Amino acid sequence: MTSRPKLLVTRRLPDAVTKRLMAGYEAEMNPDDHVMSAEELLGKAAGKDALLVTPVDKITPELVAKLPASIKMIATFSVGFEHINTDALKQRGIKASNTPDVLTDATADIALLLMLGAARRAYEGERAVREATWKSWSTTYMLGVHMTGKRLGVFGMGRIGQAVAKRARAFDMTIHYYNRSRLKPELEQGAIYHASAEDMLPHCDFLSINAPGGPETLHWLNAERIARMPDGAIVVNTARGGLVDDNALIAALKSGKLFAAGLDVFENEPNLNPAYRDLSNVFLLPHLGSATIDTRNAMGFKALDNLDAFFAGRPLIDPIA
Ligand code: DGY
Repeated sequence: MTSRPKLLVTRRLPDAVTKRLMAGYEAEMNPDDHVMSAEELLGKAAGKDALLVTPVDKITPELVAKLPASIKMIATFSVGFEHINTDALKQRGIKASNTPDVLTDATADIALLLMLGAARRAYEGERAVREATWKSWSTTYMLGVHMTGKRLGVFGMGRIGQAVAKRARAFDMTIHYYNRSRLKPELEQGAIYHASAEDMLPHCDFLSINAPGGPETLHWLNAERIARMPDGAIVVNTARGGLVDDNALIAALKSGKLFAAGLDVFENEPNLNPAYRDLSNVFLLPHLGSATIDTRNAMGFKALDNLDAFFAGRPLIDPIA
């Protein structure tokens, strides 16, 4: 019997994924699920054939340069791969894959939760009930923003952006979008394309950020762009925290320029800008976009499908390097 490929798995995996992985690989797992330092990851990578990593593992050029020669493939348990320097991997001939498609619906669902949560003051309402500060029904108590029939701008109309738009249509929202290239009419589904994001922003009663993270989009939502939005607009982010200039967003939430925000992702998460915690008009979630049992199993299986393909000598299904 040929020996099974040796894997380093940097974080704990869902049980069903672990079961399948153990059947095909000799794996070093991380049972207490701690975040590994670069030094620990490099030490444990010695003698392994591949890594199964997550968005918290920073695969920098420096780390790639020090990876043992035995590492031939890196599969990330995520669709986003801004944590992986794919150029450095390509230079070393190391293959890499991600997990697109399978988390589209779960992430779009969370975007709608954020839109409603921010617009309808879910955090304040929840707190009032729990803390017994709710005194009585009143015609003016905790009024929010109406979502049905409003305009939604989607920044980044890829798979997840399109799924957000699809859900928003059920709320009779008019969809505007910016994307690097215009979608075909069958994908656009009547959404209004803007050739520049700046042109779209004045039409955004709601703005959903769905573009990839990384240097190109770092702090994309800054003070100038927020100023272009209608007063009282709502921003939600299920993509990557780095797309938002936190100081600009916090200032706009404090001044009332924006009515509210809903955020599932943060720059430097979990160490988010502490000012968010003091704002009652921001609905906060701890990066739960893909956090359903079905979705996390599907992501793990997709990572394994790619590893299986690689070790069987087949092309990767979802290559990123
Ligand atoms: C991803 O896959 O990139 C997500 O952010 C994880 O939820």
